[in-house]
Amino acid sequence: MAKKLWGGRFSKDTDALVDKMNASIDFDKRLYHQDIAGSIAHATMLGEQGILSQDDVKAIVDGLKGIEQDIEAGKIHFTRENEDIHMNIEAILTERIGEAGKRLHTGRSRNDQVAVDFRQYVKEEIPEIIDDLKSFERVLTKKARLHTKTVMPGYTHLQRAQPITYAHYLMAYANMFRRDILRLQDCESRLDECPLGAGALATTTYPIDRARTAELLGFARPMSNSLDAVSDRDYALELLSDLSILMMHLSRMAEETVLWSSWEFKFIELDDAYSTGSSIMPQKKNPDVAELARGKTGRVYGDLMALLTTMKGLPLAYNKDMQEDKEPVFDAVDTVELCLPVFTAMIDTAKVNVEQMHAAAKGGFINATDVADYLVKKGLPFREAHAVSGHLVAECIDEGKTLDELSLDEFKAASPLFEGDIYQAIDLTTCVNGRNVTGGPSEASVLKQIEEIEELTS
Ligand code: ARG
Repeated sequence: MAKKLWGGRFSKDTDALVDKMNASIDFDKRLYHQDIAGSIAHATMLGEQGILSQDDVKAIVDGLKGIEQDIEAGKIHFTRENEDIHMNIEAILTERIGEAGKRLHTGRSRNDQVAVDFRQYVKEEIPEIIDDLKSFERVLTKKARLHTKTVMPGYTHLQRAQPITYAHYLMAYANMFRRDILRLQDCESRLDECPLGAGALATTTYPIDRARTAELLGFARPMSNSLDAVSDRDYALELLSDLSILMMHLSRMAEETVLWSSWEFKFIELDDAYSTGSSIMPQKKNPDVAELARGKTGRVYGDLMALLTTMKGLPLAYNKDMQEDKEPVFDAVDTVELCLPVFTAMIDTAKVNVEQMHAAAKGGFINATDVADYLVKKGLPFREAHAVSGHLVAECIDEGKTLDELSLDEFKAASPLFEGDIYQAIDLTTCVNGRNVTGGPSEASVLKQIEEIEELTS
């Protein structure tokens, strides 16, 4: 009978299917680095507290470092019999250094071990994602600077609504991604507590020093309650929530990229390197990157729902259900870390069709509000001005004209308040720059928005 590390009270092997179901090594081997760092900190502290001899600590630390090198060199073979990354590494260590290896687990449980490994993993990935977001922000502000005069229609209900600029549009997303950064930083600040030393659930009778292991591992402090320390995965859920929101933002921009690169809109043209062809239709240039980012948003939401559902109703403290925490988090992190850089490059390299945007802005009566505002400035109440402008739009539709193509007589027939300056007032650039309120599309306002984001990413 092959003895498990925990096999003392068992007289029979586990069923092979149970081994298959129970083992997490196939996915948690990703945590080898965090696991070894946690073990080195634990052993170092045990030595300092006189719980382990200095000889044992040295053998353990050297042994673990050697194992880490061998894992990285691809020389280590993990086994399902040893279940997970924690027991695999411990078994290899003991095989290599003998007795001392068996002492490493003193005053520790796999429950606090996995808790510290996983927390450390999340803590290390957050800055990576923030870096990706900052690179994206830099592309958005760089592009926005080039397009503060590029007038385009702003939409509501996907109907042309009011004139904005491409820069104003880009900065809308830059602000959303800025909040995504802040949310991730917030998650990072809350998870900066070390669960190691919580033991299985109730700490230990050995005189361990939890503040010391927290310090050695770079955490701000130890977690204050051991049951909480081994039971909660709220930090992983926060990360998944933050990533879901981030992907939702990306997915909306993806949707516009799909629409705007279509022959119908032609607002942007994707670079060949960031689009694909069709195997049957030779003319096609498909926005697959945008579509995949939009599609993969579903997986990340699924990852969040999976972990929320796993955690729901679990009694304290550890339950094996919680082994299901890792795959959704790995998947969401991998998905975001894949999508963000590609999406960034796709936006960076996309050609902006300034003329086409302008033509769409001209054709959509998006200065009808400005016609009404013109009359309001001449003393007409807004409701009446709205009716006059609406009437003029109807006339234009009948005659196949745009508002600026109406003659002054036609304007005057609708209201005697119209004068020759109406043409200047409804010029699209005037309309955009007239909206010079904080947050608005005017060039001056957008430049301020750009500076705010540049401050964050510089
Ligand atoms: N592989 C386990 C997990 O990922 C480690 C903790 C096991 N603890 C236990 N009491 N069986 O959750």
